Amino acid sequence: MGNENHDQQYSKKLPSYNNPQTHILTQKHKLKFVMLIIFTNLFTIYMFTGPFSFMYRYSSMSSSDSNSILQELNSTKAQLAASHTILSELHQRLNSTNLLVQALLIDLTREQEKHSNRVDENPLIVKLGKDDSTTAAGSLSDELSIALGPHKLPYGYSPKIGSDEIHMTIGEACLRLNEELKQYMTYDIGGECPVDEVLSQGLILKGCEPLPRRRCHPKSPMNYVEPTPLPDSLWTTPPDTSIIWEPYSCKSYQCLVDRKNEPGNSYDCKGCFDLEKEEKIKWIFDDGGLDFGIDQVLATKAPGTIRIGLDIGGGSGTFAARMRERNVTVITSTLNLDGPFNNMVASRGLIPMHISISQRFPFFENTLDIVHSMDVIGNWMPDTMLEFVLYDIYRVLRPGGLFWLDHFFCFGSQLNKTYVPMLDRVGFNKLRWHVGMKLDPKVRKDVWLISALMEKPMI
Ligand SMILES: *[C@@H]1O[C@H](CO)[C@@H](O)[C@H](O)[C@H]1NC(C)=O
Ligand SMILES: *[C@@H]1O[C@H](CO)[C@@H](O)[C@H](O)[C@H]1NC(C)=O
Ligand SMILES: *[C@@H]1O[C@H](CO)[C@@H](O)[C@H](O)[C@H]1NC(C)=O
Ligand SMILES: *[C@@H]1O[C@H](CO)[C@@H](O)[C@H](O)[C@H]1NC(C)=O
Repeated sequence: MGNENHDQQYSKKLPSYNNPQTHILTQKHKLKFVMLIIFTNLFTIYMFTGPFSFMYRYSSMSSSDSNSILQELNSTKAQLAASHTILSELHQRLNSTNLLVQALLIDLTREQEKHSNRVDENPLIVKLGKDDSTTAAGSLSDELSIALGPHKLPYGYSPKIGSDEIHMTIGEACLRLNEELKQYMTYDIGGECPVDEVLSQGLILKGCEPLPRRRCHPKSPMNYVEPTPLPDSLWTTPPDTSIIWEPYSCKSYQCLVDRKNEPGNSYDCKGCFDLEKEEKIKWIFDDGGLDFGIDQVLATKAPGTIRIGLDIGGGSGTFAARMRERNVTVITSTLNLDGPFNNMVASRGLIPMHISISQRFPFFENTLDIVHSMDVIGNWMPDTMLEFVLYDIYRVLRPGGLFWLDHFFCFGSQLNKTYVPMLDRVGFNKLRWHVGMKLDPKVRKDVWLISALMEKPMI
């Protein structure tokens, strides 16, 4: 006969308490009874120990008297025990009532949540407008609204979260990209997602990051084959069947490799897909100038102390591959700019992260041993944004962690006026520092490059 049984019995009894007056009367009755017992007991104790107790002691000459007193004591004991039992029974009933109230509250919260996702309660939806809420596209607003919440927590207020509801996040810029976001959230719920990588990445590049989640399945590549095992995968061009090619101008890896020979700078990371040529020699040699070698950089620290890191804008993941060969785990942030960069990194057995430079790095303070960035951070970025990025790199690096700024590009006039003071402001120590002019005759003459190895100071 467990508590459960007891609760059931109690809940069966519950209807009789439906009349609140009856309930109160019953409770009052019980209380009266308990109070009576307690007062009786208190009085007895008082008589024996209080100021009049001497009378009892003097009169306890006769044994029959003392016997009767003992009997009385015994019966008082019994009464006390009885009142104790009643008290604990009341306690139990209170407990089961509490459980019932709890259950009722949970039901109530669930009901509230069902109603709380109404379109008009979400400020974003209000902002996006409800003009077409009666047309077929109206379900879009609903889907976006459902995606974002607020979602009521099923068990009410959570001290850990500090709220009774939770929101799913999207980038603030999404609010300004009304039409594109609407298009992105128009899909068949539970079905196949549109192949709209160009649209979604376009949103990300403009700062709508993170994007809202969707309830659809991305198209899967046909005839996918299991990946090449490590370590061979690091330097193997993946099979074409691992990619959905629709979003890209190239339709095969061979096309991606070949396009490095096309004139002009129209493609990002043009040589990145050719694992045989330039990629193979990157960071292997240290020329004492702008090109640092990985081994020379790692040698600035005690062996094995550089273990985990981030490569910002790491293209097809070659930096991470070279680091992996030295037992350093590097996450490669990369975008699929007219090429399957994220897929390529993953196929090599490395970790791709699809985030833009606009987003706060998803790492905690003082955690990473090394941050590297080549050909991404540069004067194309607004100064203020760049300063925020540099502070964020400082934030995620552990004390003594390395920031390898690889081929930072800018104009000569900006070098000493803007960027050197900015790096000093953020507070890195300089371990290596090389400034050089870009030798490429095709680019403007005053393009300068900085390669620097910096360290977050120990305090
Ligand atoms: C009091 O109760 C105990 C057992 O609880 C018993 O042994 C004892 O004889 C009783 N005394 C009197 C005076 O009734
Ligand atoms: C009532 O609940 C509390 C905690 O929930 C528990 O410690 C206590 O033992 C319960 N009392 C009864 C009489 O069930
Ligand atoms: C990497 O780790 C493996 C296994 O722990 C070890 O055998 C190898 O020598 C290490 N390589 C380097 C370059 O430290
Ligand atoms: C920047 O300043 C350094 C000395 O602080 C100087 O040697 C260098 O020529 C300057 N560079 C440019 C591009 O002005």
